[in-house]
Amino acid sequence: MSAPVSFAGVVGWPISQSVSPTMHNFWIAQYGLDAEYIPLAVKPEDFAEVMARLPEKGFAGVNVTIPHKEAAFKLSTTLDTNARAAGAVNLLVFDQGKIHGRNTDIPGFSAALTESFGPGIARAAPAVVLGAGGAARAVVLALIHQGAFDIRILNRTETRARNLIDLVQDKGTKLSAPDWGDWNAAFEGAGLLVNTTSLGMIGKDALHIPLEHLPRGAAVADIVYNPLETALLADARARGHRTMDGLGMLMHQAVPAFAAWFGVTPQVTPDLRAVLEEKLRGVKP
Ligand code: ATR
Repeated sequence: MSAPVSFAGVVGWPISQSVSPTMHNFWIAQYGLDAEYIPLAVKPEDFAEVMARLPEKGFAGVNVTIPHKEAAFKLSTTLDTNARAAGAVNLLVFDQGKIHGRNTDIPGFSAALTESFGPGIARAAPAVVLGAGGAARAVVLALIHQGAFDIRILNRTETRARNLIDLVQDKGTKLSAPDWGDWNAAFEGAGLLVNTTSLGMIGKDALHIPLEHLPRGAAVADIVYNPLETALLADARARGHRTMDGLGMLMHQAVPAFAAWFGVTPQVTPDLRAVLEEKLRGVKP
């Protein structure tokens, strides 16, 4: 058999834990494309040089993950609105000498949220976001795009929450940074709680927070997907809250990437979820 005509991949350091190859290669097989999606372990100091060489090797583009999202932002020749807003790029598209930088984490979270909880969840009541790193930035921007009027950002290191507020300041949205641990104030009247911290991931401490003050009707989302049911989601489910795990965002951020490289808009289906769940069962920290 001849080599595939086009490649895409995911660039990170480390990269062995990524389930993106499973996802994109599932779609490649499903749509019968002559292509392959490859994990690429690239050290930070080699990132720019490797990116410069990939187009001639037949790469249509790559996903970019930790720790390269800011470096990808810097080397992009064009940036979409989401990449500009986030200051980070998770998708590169190679195009005749140009490198288009995009951020699909923002629309990815937005699509997952709508799929799980329906449109308007962010507009219905205040939202609480835990964490203030890169993932929090994407989540907060998605909530703002969805018309959130009140977002409370709680982070262990409060100055990072303040910095995030300064960065995403939006006149239509009230943004505040209650103290980490001040759950009563943060949860009052809230309709959505999102964890964007790394707590709850395999190998990290579990995130247990008192949910007694979270209104019963509030929805709870975690962007951690390994494990799929984090302690936070288990606690929330036990209390009767609607929940959303991290696979939704992972799958939906991949849709525009696949479409940009291969010209086919793939579907997020129960079959895809089942394949990823199976893969995750075998992934160790
Ligand atoms: P990412 O870009 O994936 O969001 P990050 O920038 O390293 O990664 O952010 C990780 C988030 O998890 C931060 O909000 C971090 O809190 P700090 O800003 O105080 O570091 C949060 N986090 C990590 N470990 C934590 C812990 N043990 N307790 C509370 N928050 C934690």
